Amino acid sequence: MSKVTVVGAGNVGATVANVLAHQDLVREIVLVDIKGDFAKGKALDTYQQASIDSYSTRVIGTDNYADTAGSDVVVITAGIPRKPGMSRDDLISTNANIVGTVTDSILKYSPDPIIIVVSNPLDVMTYAAHKHSGLSDKKVFGMAGILDTARYRAFISMELGVSVKDVQALLLGGHGDTMVPLPRYTNVGGIPVTDLISEERLTEIVNRTKKGGGELVKLMGTSAWYAPGAAAAQMVAAIVRDEDRIFPVCARLNGEFGLNDIFLGVPVKLGKGGIKEIIELKLNEREMSDLNTSAGHVREVMSVYDKM
Ligand code: NAI
Ligand code: 2OP
Repeated sequence: MSKVTVVGAGNVGATVANVLAHQDLVREIVLVDIKGDFAKGKALDTYQQASIDSYSTRVIGTDNYADTAGSDVVVITAGIPRKPGMSRDDLISTNANIVGTVTDSILKYSPDPIIIVVSNPLDVMTYAAHKHSGLSDKKVFGMAGILDTARYRAFISMELGVSVKDVQALLLGGHGDTMVPLPRYTNVGGIPVTDLISEERLTEIVNRTKKGGGELVKLMGTSAWYAPGAAAAQMVAAIVRDEDRIFPVCARLNGEFGLNDIFLGVPVKLGKGGIKEIIELKLNEREMSDLNTSAGHVREVMSVYDKM
């Protein structure tokens, strides 16, 4: 049984810990925050839920990285979320410092963990954590694609009035308004979505998906946490159970899709040890052009980080 650390006990981090604890999959979850009492409170609340919902996972809160020693998987959610009117990229200077410091502190006590980054701007914060850690590409990656695909799947199920369980889809690219949902790789109970929804409506759904994070920021005044937390927990579970799940994950590309030295959302096989394989697709011209546009945007933000 594994030990998982979640850094940042705010909306997303506390949700990751809570969802994961409910799966009764790991021995211990350590919730770390600079606000130590806040982390202790969130952890205690989640552990007090254990007898009601029947799980044995221990959950502790702390501001001391020594408590994270020997972690197998670390999820980084520390940082500021966006407020209405802000883009994810506006968070870069604050969150880059936080992600760098957190990565260094983690590695002091857990020399070879798998790191899943959630903090925004996601693709560039994953790049930052990878750079700081010096760990293998297979062990440092980011969560965004599962969330963005979940939003896309939810909108399709709402459109058709069918269970979201039967909507399978794929989405590539950066975690921003240039992300690339792929109708050609989307089906409902095996039926191509293009047979069920008109091109015009699908374009509207794709556009709503691209702005899905912003829709929630407008509604709530801060960014989402239930679906993001559950998505990160699903990645942890795939690793701990060595499930070989196929998920869109923000991964470092070394020539795949014709792209190099960039962290971008692509389908991967996820299991023990992290990313086992990046799955390349035969994209058509339009899809490839959209992916290149998204990569171009991520590269711009990467260069802002590089100049910091
Ligand atoms: P939040 O404000 O609720 O929680 C962030 C927590 O990080 C706070 O408790 C804060 O005290 C803590 N923190 C700040 N600096 C720290 C440090 N140096 N060490 C440890 N903890 C520290 O924010 P929320 O909503 O949980 O979002 C967290 C991050 O995740 C944001 O950057 C947000 O944009 C991002 N996010 C990313 C998503 C994705 O799809 N990748 C989805 C949703 C949020
Ligand atoms: C989201 O997509 C803000 O990245 C966060 O909800």
